[in-house]
Amino acid sequence: MSATDQANYQELRSRAMELSLLGSIESVLGWDERVMLPELGAPYRAEQMTMLAGKIHQSWTDPRMGELIESLAESELANDPESDSGATIRELKKDYDRRKKLPEALVKELTRLSVLGQQAWQKARETNNWNQFSPFLAQIVEKKREEAQAIGYEECPYDALLDEYEPGEKTSQVAAVLAGLKEDLVPFIQQIADSGKQTPVEILSRYYPAAVQESFGKEAANAIGFDFQRGRLDETAHPFCSGMGPNDCRITTRYNPNFFNEAFFGILHEAGHGLYDQGLRADEYGLPLGSAVSLGIHESQSRMWENFVGRSLAFWKHFYPAAQLAFPEALGNVKLESFYFAINAVEPSLIRVEADEATYNLHILVRFELEQALINDGLSVADLPQAWNSKYESYLGLTPPSDTLGVLQDIHWSGGAIGYFTTYSLGNLYAAQFFEQADREIGPLQEQFAAGVFQPLKEWLQTKIHQQGRRYSAAQLVEKVTGKPLSHQALMRHLHTKLDPLYDLN
Ligand code: CO
Repeated sequence: MSATDQANYQELRSRAMELSLLGSIESVLGWDERVMLPELGAPYRAEQMTMLAGKIHQSWTDPRMGELIESLAESELANDPESDSGATIRELKKDYDRRKKLPEALVKELTRLSVLGQQAWQKARETNNWNQFSPFLAQIVEKKREEAQAIGYEECPYDALLDEYEPGEKTSQVAAVLAGLKEDLVPFIQQIADSGKQTPVEILSRYYPAAVQESFGKEAANAIGFDFQRGRLDETAHPFCSGMGPNDCRITTRYNPNFFNEAFFGILHEAGHGLYDQGLRADEYGLPLGSAVSLGIHESQSRMWENFVGRSLAFWKHFYPAAQLAFPEALGNVKLESFYFAINAVEPSLIRVEADEATYNLHILVRFELEQALINDGLSVADLPQAWNSKYESYLGLTPPSDTLGVLQDIHWSGGAIGYFTTYSLGNLYAAQFFEQADREIGPLQEQFAAGVFQPLKEWLQTKIHQQGRRYSAAQLVEKVTGKPLSHQALMRHLHTKLDPLYDLN
């Protein structure tokens, strides 16, 4: 290869590295906004983040970036799209092309709206006051519609938004996979409801002191391999995980002293995201080969540790004695089998983040359909609460008694994240397919979990998924790792294996 190509490639890498440094500063501000910011600090924070977003956008769309990318895309370094240089150039070109289509004013306006929108949403949710939030959401939806038009699409505007979170996926492909899931899931959930089995869920709403939940949750996160020397756990109203550098991963949770699941499974979930972040290539951190491939794959990691590991009987064979010691009042007299049934109980409910593994996907379908209606079909924000309630009635058989328990429950739309929810269900499907494959290659995993051994699974995921970065698309990665394209079959097998015995189904 020519010396010019080599020099251009180094320049592109160092520019991209600088952009990811700026992006990590954005993450620090975002973490602080959601964990530490006093209420009245929001407008100034919005100014800070808007300014930074503008600077980042300017650097991305600098004509020199375009020159470098165009010339490298034609060079020998890009010949093999799966080589280190080929994948790096290909992915940076994709990022650049997307950025280039967005006007700076739109980027800044969306950043500003997302900080102010989140603050307005938080208050609206606390006080059940939809009207306090709806004017912000109306503006956000309007801007997201503009964004979709600016980016462009083949089939529908929603494709352009989905692509930000699940690159390469089309609305129609996702809709087809989720339709298959729905077809098998809805009658299965009905069968469970018809079984008449009483679930011992009362166990979970006993008293679990918050401080003990924190230490117990940290112990579990540590056991599965989350490195607290390279990360930390803090408290927030709306849990998330944010990577800020190769050795700085922040996870957050919230504690409810009268509900065990929320913090414990929340911590395992975020720690699962954290393991992905901590498992990325340090030498490429922030560049395509040291970044996560998609949010769906990210969510597959969190879901795997939360549900496939954390809600397994084997996991609790190991952890239950420690849980009984930590929470003697709540669990001292409860048998392992009852506790296991309680944490796996299936019951339609109003709140997505508290939903069980089976009904969870119905919550996502509601949002997936509403988002398409908002972006593709012109559903007005004013009509959203009504549309939300009627979908909950038809999918889950429940009508939210308030907007707080309905359309106001999630943070996403307030932050401009439209197209994001879908990745949660994709994550469940990816997780099931990866987990089956891991069990085939390095299992039986259940025996390892029962002995408190989680290292082999963590390392398998790191090698097969985390260290690949964005070398392959999510769809290619699934095929490479499991030998099959994504489908809902593995998830249904997982649910049947777990739930049929608990509910005495054939
Ligand atoms: Co997650």
